[in-house]
Amino acid sequence: MSVKDQIDNHKIPRHVAVIMDGNGRWAKKRGFSRVFGHKNGVNAVRDTVEAAAELNIEALTLYAFSTENWNRPKAEVDTLMHLLVNSLKKELPVFQKNNIKLLTIGNIDKLPKKAKNELLDVIEKTKNNTHLNLTLALNYGAREEIINATKSISKKIVNNELNVEEIDENIINSHLYTFTLPGVDFLIRTSGERRISNFLLWQIAYAELYFTEVLWPDFNKENFYQAILDYQSRERRFGKTSEQIDDSKQ
Ligand code: FPP
Repeated sequence: MSVKDQIDNHKIPRHVAVIMDGNGRWAKKRGFSRVFGHKNGVNAVRDTVEAAAELNIEALTLYAFSTENWNRPKAEVDTLMHLLVNSLKKELPVFQKNNIKLLTIGNIDKLPKKAKNELLDVIEKTKNNTHLNLTLALNYGAREEIINATKSISKKIVNNELNVEEIDENIINSHLYTFTLPGVDFLIRTSGERRISNFLLWQIAYAELYFTEVLWPDFNKENFYQAILDYQSRERRFGKTSEQIDDSKQ
């Protein structure tokens, strides 16, 4: 039986987040510059998006550019922005055909104008699509997201639009960039690193974590299916005991 056939369609995670890591090392191993790795990383993005759509996953969030990535050499940052613009242009028909809605999280005002405009264009054109919410984290940092949420909530309190006692999980959720998305069920990181790197800190509170040695440009549909199978083998307890989980199934 193929890996895909072993997947239980009734236990699909609603929201999968991916830290795409290892492009630079993949290129170095082959004697090429880091940007060659990013270029090949685009194929892995396509495979992952397609696999997620095929499995009827509701939300897929990809860490494409962090607030810290601005510290990389200018040529590398420029290549990443260029790849983003080109990929968005190229993939728009695929998004439309597969009913994929593009979203972003992070402060896209700081991106080059061309990248921001292309993003806004694809977001507008795909806004009525309903199958997969594909979110690109761009100039994203979780601590910055939480700081921004704290500021917005504080302003509402100062303006008497909200009482301190009313602050709960729903209020925090609704002030995060991800306010339209369910919490993250499953977080994948490639390339053998075992860090969260300031990604979706609030949203991964109950996520299952999956680390694979595969470098991002090599990550393909089979690797994604394998990860989902691993997710399905785990028991998610949300703080309860195994017995309580078993009881609730009956
Ligand atoms: C991490 O590898 C990868 C990134 C910082 C960027 C990911 C970008 C892409 C896959 C291409 C464009 C994206 C889209 C959405 C079209 P790394 O450079 O940190 O690798 P290393 O750890 O081996 O140095």
